[in-house]
Amino acid sequence: MAVQHHAAPRPATNPLFNDNRLKLGVFGANVSNGCAITLAEGHLETTWPNTARIATLADQAGFEAMVPVARWKGFGGPTNFNGSCFECYTWAAGVAAVTEQIGVFSTSHVPTVHPLLAAKQATTIDHISNGRFALNIVCGWYQPELEMFGAPIMEHDTRYEYAAEWLEIVKRLWTAEDEFDFEGRFFRIQKGFHQPKPIQRPFPPIMNAGGSPVGQRFAAKYADMAFILVREHDYDGARAQVQHLRRLAREEFGRELQVWTNGYVVCRPTEREARDYLNYYVRERGDWEAVDNLTRIIGIQSGVLPPEAVEAFKFHFIAGWGGYPLVGTAEQITDTLAKLAGVGLDGVVLSWVNYEAELQQWIAEVLPLLEQAGLRRPFRQEA
Ligand SMILES: Cc1cc2nc3c(=O)[nH]c(=O)nc-3n(C[C@H](O)[C@H](O)[C@H](O)COP(=O)(O)O)c2cc1C
Repeated sequence: MAVQHHAAPRPATNPLFNDNRLKLGVFGANVSNGCAITLAEGHLETTWPNTARIATLADQAGFEAMVPVARWKGFGGPTNFNGSCFECYTWAAGVAAVTEQIGVFSTSHVPTVHPLLAAKQATTIDHISNGRFALNIVCGWYQPELEMFGAPIMEHDTRYEYAAEWLEIVKRLWTAEDEFDFEGRFFRIQKGFHQPKPIQRPFPPIMNAGGSPVGQRFAAKYADMAFILVREHDYDGARAQVQHLRRLAREEFGRELQVWTNGYVVCRPTEREARDYLNYYVRERGDWEAVDNLTRIIGIQSGVLPPEAVEAFKFHFIAGWGGYPLVGTAEQITDTLAKLAGVGLDGVVLSWVNYEAELQQWIAEVLPLLEQAGLRRPFRQEA
């Protein structure tokens, strides 16, 4: 990618806009256990050298995204799942500095950071990364962590009204040449000023993974990257969700967006070995106490799944944050990803139990098959 260090349209610097049919991201490498709620050996520990090695591997393999999880408190149980967690903006600044081409995300809980500070941090990371930054906006649903900030958790749909106002201010700061005043329901800005502007023009891409009707509407209106939850084998349902989101964005807001999902990976020489290991780390070594805490709150606080579906989904939450199972041989995983691309998905953020070892395996065994299947172009780093 061209070295710019000055204003550039997003596709000139950010790999999120490359022409790979199926884009790839690493999800949750900033939090203890990543996305796997398990005591199984080799699960992720939150250290900077771990992050740096994982980010470097993904970067050199041509991945498009490093997406962190915004978390402030764990979910209890023997793992205290995600309890040890790096702050996302500062983590992203570090990732930006040790990588060359990958898209670098911060995930931001809007009630925990003033939009003026968020815009400034984002711009700073966009410059450190030379135009590879993207911002994942989350409203927050995990009450115990938000209560640490002393603010009462807002009613579900009000959170998105708050997020909309927050984002309008951030976008204004990123783009306005003149100082501006803003008087809203939640914020008051006097003579708002922001320099330098981000490298990416008009401004860095926005991700939002809202799953409720109000959340999806927010994503359709503001996000360049939205997420859907895909149930196992339900490719028709996934296609309908992708089409719904694209139509909503196009018809109501005149916009195009990418649609991604998250998936957990267990790749082994045989399907049997993959399934055995999945059962081992979920059924035998899973932290069912932590997942009870997590699903109880997510069932009440988020609009993505009805409470009874959340119960049935516990297995997938332990396996990888409710993601799509990418379980089997490298060939089987490639077939599954081809089906997901076939329903119109643009990308998948991935998680593993042992991020570093299994990412290395992914790069050696799965990535070449994805290239053969025409889902990705072979990645060559510029000299
Ligand atoms: C890929 C992905 C990443 C997410 N990252 C976070 C996160 O880091 N922190 C968080 O509190 N919620 C996170 N969420 C939750 C969503 O932002 C959203 O609140 C949830 O999907 C429920 O949708 P709703 O807010 O529309 O009810 C994530 C969800 C997905 C699918």
